[in-house]
Amino acid sequence: MLQLKQTTDQKPLPYNRQFIDEDDVRAVTQVLMSDWLTTGPVTEQFEEKLAEKAGARFAVSCSSGTAGLHLAALQTGLDSSSTVIVPANTFVATANAARVAGAKVVIADVEPDTGLMSPRTLEKAFARCERCSEVSVEAVFNVHFAGQCGDLAGLRDIVIHQKAALIHDAAHALGAQIRSGNAVRPIADGPIDELSIFSFHPVKAITMGEGGAITTNSERVALSLKKLRSHGVERNPHLWDLKDQGLDQESGPNPWYYEMQQLGLNYRASDINCALGLSQLDKLSFFMKQRRRLADLYTELLGPHASLVRPLARTGFSENAWHLFVVQIDFAAIGKSRASVMKDLRDAQIGTQVHYIPLFMHPYYRPSMDSKDPSEIWPGATAYYEKCLSLPLFVGMDEDDVAHVVKTLVRTLKK
Ligand SMILES: Cc1ncc(COP(=O)(O)O)c(C=O)c1O
Repeated sequence: MLQLKQTTDQKPLPYNRQFIDEDDVRAVTQVLMSDWLTTGPVTEQFEEKLAEKAGARFAVSCSSGTAGLHLAALQTGLDSSSTVIVPANTFVATANAARVAGAKVVIADVEPDTGLMSPRTLEKAFARCERCSEVSVEAVFNVHFAGQCGDLAGLRDIVIHQKAALIHDAAHALGAQIRSGNAVRPIADGPIDELSIFSFHPVKAITMGEGGAITTNSERVALSLKKLRSHGVERNPHLWDLKDQGLDQESGPNPWYYEMQQLGLNYRASDINCALGLSQLDKLSFFMKQRRRLADLYTELLGPHASLVRPLARTGFSENAWHLFVVQIDFAAIGKSRASVMKDLRDAQIGTQVHYIPLFMHPYYRPSMDSKDPSEIWPGATAYYEKCLSLPLFVGMDEDDVAHVVKTLVRTLKK
């Protein structure tokens, strides 16, 4: 049995936080002292290494995960004539990216024990679209919630049958491995027409401060995303549409000339951010080992308390990246509200969070509901949300910290 520290020695435990070392500081400082701060050589190195770690041919960095989702929406051609399906249990960014591109969002239910969209809940969402006479669904955003994969093969079959695009919000999932039988492969190793989007906010697997990326196996798509992240501007003379404007008959390309060919914005990441990302990538396997070790310890220590609190179910479809350690507590049955449990834990310097308030509960997305009770349309997400709580999980934690959280949580729930 682990020895517990005295509570007085206990450091504050946020629900998640970054891990920065001297190599990170050195890498960023080197860029700051160089001539090049914005998107440049370090960005290219970061993209190459990220592609390798994620298991895709290409990675295109950008200024945030949200920017990545918006770029994916633009690349897929979403506009005001499009409908997309997004799972209820995600950060609002997933749905917002599609909305900002103009698309209508149809919210899919999730499984109550994992918080993930499944083939069953996706089929239900498609059936709802048909009943509401949505002409066709152009894209499905799948979320690898908490760093875990659902039944990707099952989801893919449905999406292909419906002739839609599949976009993975992998904001939580860098470092996860997809499992099929005994084989594993990296999270973004998939068909050429699928995109995966990553976030490198400080609570994620690695951080760039703020940053994100999209991975693809298509060179054409990677080049197009690079153009879109920079105002849709093309600088390569061979690819200009209006060659008579850009080229001088005698001296070749005009030195000032560039062409905006598509509507885009500045979603570039800087070399400063990418230097941090590149240095963090060197530690990804250590980060994953540490997160998996802590998650396994949580699962072991919570085992005897299953009548009070249970970790989210593991699907078996992935080696999880453990972005979050989510437990489920039947607050109604124990007669204590989630708010009072969170407050008791906060008083003990233990940070917790709720991931996520279902999309359909946000005022912006409520009007898109029919007049039915939301728990009838989304029973899985409603049941999941009532019980979920994310416990502290970050690389700087040790075994004593996990034991301390479990002991304090169980004491709070029994109080
Ligand atoms: C599932 C999910 N998608 C997208 C995002 C957006 O990422 P970013 O904060 O880098 O814009 C987040 C961020 O928390 C997220 O959790």
